[in-house]
This record gives sequence, C-alpha cells and structure tokens, in this order.
Amino acid sequence: DEIKKGSHRTFMEKEIFEQPGAAQSALFSRVDSNQRRIRLGGIAEHMDELLQCRRVFLVGCGTSYHAGMMAETVIERLCGYSVTSVLASHFIDCLPHVGPGDMCVFISQSGSTADTIAALEYANKCDALTVGIVNTVGSSIYRQTDCGVHINAGYEASVCSTKAYTCQCVSLLMIALCIHFEQRLRQNQPVSDLYDEIFDGIITLPDALSEALDESKHIHEIAKKISAASSCLVLGRGFSYSVAREGALKIKEVSYIHAEGIAAGELKHGTLALVCDDIPLVFVAPCDRYMPKMQNAVAQCTARRTDKAKDGVVIITDDTAWVSAGFKSVIKTPRVHEMVQPLVSCVPLQLLALYLCEERGFDVDKPRNLAKSVTVE
Ligand code: G6P
Repeated sequence: DEIKKGSHRTFMEKEIFEQPGAAQSALFSRVDSNQRRIRLGGIAEHMDELLQCRRVFLVGCGTSYHAGMMAETVIERLCGYSVTSVLASHFIDCLPHVGPGDMCVFISQSGSTADTIAALEYANKCDALTVGIVNTVGSSIYRQTDCGVHINAGYEASVCSTKAYTCQCVSLLMIALCIHFEQRLRQNQPVSDLYDEIFDGIITLPDALSEALDESKHIHEIAKKISAASSCLVLGRGFSYSVAREGALKIKEVSYIHAEGIAAGELKHGTLALVCDDIPLVFVAPCDRYMPKMQNAVAQCTARRTDKAKDGVVIITDDTAWVSAGFKSVIKTPRVHEMVQPLVSCVPLQLLALYLCEERGFDVDKPRNLAKSVTVE
C-alpha cells in the first residue's frame, strides 16, 4: 500500500492530485488538434445509430450519477437531444418507456454496480442503444453495452471516487463533441461556436485542474475552521448544481458531516429555514451567467447569520470580487468555459472533504459502511 500511495498519505489524496494526468489520459489520442475534432474508436461504428437518437438517458449511481448530471446540459445544447440524467435505482423502479431511438448511457467506474447493470439489462431488452462509460475494461457493463468509451482514469483505489468522476465527465463531453462534429459534417455545415468553446475548454482542462490543486493548503486551513460542524450545505445553480451535489456527497462519505447539495434557486422553498451560524455554507459561485442570482443567494443567507461573511461562509469561485466584498474563506479556481467550469469547481470540494475527514480523525480510505463497488442491491 505504502508504495502505491507514493508521497501521499492516502489513496484519496493521491487520486485527487492525479487528476490533471488522468484527464490528460482520457483525452490522449482522442483529440485531433489539427482538425479540431474528437475521435472515439469505441462509438465510431455505431455513429449512424447515435445520430438517429432523439432522447438520451444518463444512468449511474453515486458519483457516476453526478457525472451524468454534469454532462446533461452540454449534450442537450451541443447535440439537440432531449437529455435526462437518472439514478440507476430509480430507472429500474420506474422502468421508463425506452426503445429504438433512445440512447441509454451507463456510467460506472467499476462497471459492476448491481443497479446500473439491472438498468442496462432492461434497456437492452427494450432495444435501446446502450453506451458504456467505464473505467474497467472487461467488466459487465463494458461487455453488455452496444458501444462505449473507456475513461482511462487508471486504477482507482479510494472508495470515494475522484479522478474517475473527472474522467467520466471528460468522456461524456467528448461524446457530445464527437456527435456534434458528425452531425454538422453530414449537414455540410461548420461546427457551432459552443463546440469550439467546449473543445478549447477540455484541452486546457489538465492545466486548469493543476492550478485548482495549488489551493490545497488554503483549503486545509478553511477545513480546520469548519471541521466541528455537524451539518453543512453546499449550494450551486445552473451548471454548478451538479457540483454542489457531488461536493456534498464527498463531504458526507468521508467526514460524516451531514451535507446537502442544494439548488440555490430553491433556497426560499425550504432550505433558508436551516440557515444559521452553526451550519457552514459552501457556495459554488463561478463567474458564469448565473452570477447575479448567486450573489443574491449569498446575500439572502448571510443576512440570516450573525457571523456575516466570516469563516462559516465558503465561496468557490474564479472571481476575486468576492474577496473585495469582504468574504474571508474564498477558494480561487482558474476560469474555463462555464460548461467546463464544474470540473474545475469540484476539485476544491474534493480537497475540502479530504481535509475535513483528516481533521476529524477518520480514515479517508475506509469510510464506514461503504464499499468501492456495490455489486448487490
Ligand atoms: C459506490 C462507491 C462510489 C461510486 C458508486 C457507483 O457507492 O463508493 O464512489 O460512485 O458506488 O460506482 P460505479 O463503480 O458504478 O461508478
């Protein structure tokens, strides 16, 4: 174990810091910089069927489900499909009407999660086109899907998924770019501006992830200040909502602090009742089209705290205006395209979860009651 962890104390820490390289591996040999296109061998043969689809279901459990949430809007905007991300357990409970013309994408690090396999078997039975996004070649999901993309994250040992999440998101964005390119090619039309922006966003992602990791010491200091909390809220909206959900999951998985990922637009519909000095608030507030609304959400919350903008309000952002506005716990990230930004904003939350766990004296690689791979229902 010690050798595999290298200079890191835990697998989770090691894997968080491996993310720039993991993202690079996911992109490696798929990005054709000259033609500004993505080539994915695992779906190329099924391109005709992919282009005929009208609806997409992104199916997974836990962190893999959040990767689907992250990619939902990008796929919808780039490819014109109607896209829904859905928990695998919910998918098999509700058995949605799927069939030919539907693309069901199964996202799984291990490729062996029981609920995701059950959902896949149902989609196969209904004759939907099934696509696997897996890290484990040869796994059940790899074998039972019609086509797919290997995320190339490398072996992930930590129960808490970090680098696999990043590579799942990158893979989903690559699929969206690949399909858009092919759609436009067949219509004899140039790619859209959004395509170019997201293409540039993902090729610069490894560097942006490295820069986000440079904030680790500062994040550790923030973790020390809030580690005694028994509950915390993570808020985001638009493209950052999935990040709030994934960040809250990370915090509860390893630090055992009750954490909820909240859609900031829903504050007045319940969550505001919880806001008080005892509950740290983490806002994922990049400088995107939702910024004015996030400023409003922060103001609504700080008005209900006596410590105002002190230690209990953490802002993850690429905008220094928050520091000028007097907030003390601001975690700076680099800026990339707003639809790629969730991948960068997630890194501080992974580190925050890691340090909260360490400060509270738990073993980050052995979270109680949890398993890396959930192979039974
Ligand atoms: C477990 C793991 C999570 C993972 C989830 C789905 O809960 O602890 O880290 O996100 O299963 O696993 P999968 O292998 O399907 O991505």
